[in-house]
Amino acid sequence: MHPTLNIAVKAARRAGQIINRASLDIDSLNVGVKQQSDYVTEVDRAAEAAIIAVLREAYPTYGILAEESGLAGTDAAAEFQWIIDPLDGTTNFIHGVPQYAISIGLAKQGVMQQAVVYDANRNEIFTASKGGGAFVNGKRIRVAKRTRLDETLIGTGFPYRMFDHIDTYLAIFRELAQKTAGMRRPGAASLDLAWVACGRMDGFWELGLSPWDMAAGSLLITEAGGLVGDLSGESNFIQTGNIIGGNPKIFSQLLQVITPHLTPALRA
Ligand code: IPD
Ligand code: CA
Ligand code: CA
Repeated sequence: MHPTLNIAVKAARRAGQIINRASLDIDSLNVGVKQQSDYVTEVDRAAEAAIIAVLREAYPTYGILAEESGLAGTDAAAEFQWIIDPLDGTTNFIHGVPQYAISIGLAKQGVMQQAVVYDANRNEIFTASKGGGAFVNGKRIRVAKRTRLDETLIGTGFPYRMFDHIDTYLAIFRELAQKTAGMRRPGAASLDLAWVACGRMDGFWELGLSPWDMAAGSLLITEAGGLVGDLSGESNFIQTGNIIGGNPKIFSQLLQVITPHLTPALRA
């Protein structure tokens, strides 16, 4: 395992201990609201601090972009950057729904190099290194082989905070619901992408995500033989926040369904 991936795994496990402990007593959680339907708990913050402490100690010059603390200092200029979501799926966590994960990616000049998505509930750790394949608990994973859209299980994220594109979203949803075997909204984007990487879902699409939701999961998919892209199929998803992923055949069929619905704002 690459040394940076090893450190990211260590950091994710440290955060997992904090989250698992806190999940035993969610009634005493102190929940803050960042904006409408956007929650943060002391667990998100403690997990993030633990992750950053491990990463900083090992790689003090690397930049950090983390959901709760943002971009640290001059980190934007750093060649290497960690991209961290300490608790992806906070709404699930607060409700006791056991579907959330810790997501840590490492980018070099904007290109993903290492990825960890850790599902501490199931003790499943998804890892990938650029050019080295994707794994769950050390076992090689691959995207699903299905090629017919009508046989696929497709993941998504429903809009819940920003509703600018809700009509477009619902129009796409309506068409996909009729053309696939089923749609799922598990509620933690990084884990959704990991589940595409290991073939549990055949594809995924969501609008309005943040870099830390997608960074690690996107590398898991490409290293598992799949494709990820923005709504035009290009590589700009980290910038636009809109992502499509799947095996190559399903990826292009998702694009064919989605692109005709796009408004000019979403085509940009
Ligand atoms: C959220 C989850 C969710 C997605 C949201 C994200 P958070 O992350 O990934 O599945 O639909 O857009 O913001 O806020 O729980 O870290
Ligand atoms: Ca998130
Ligand atoms: Ca989060």
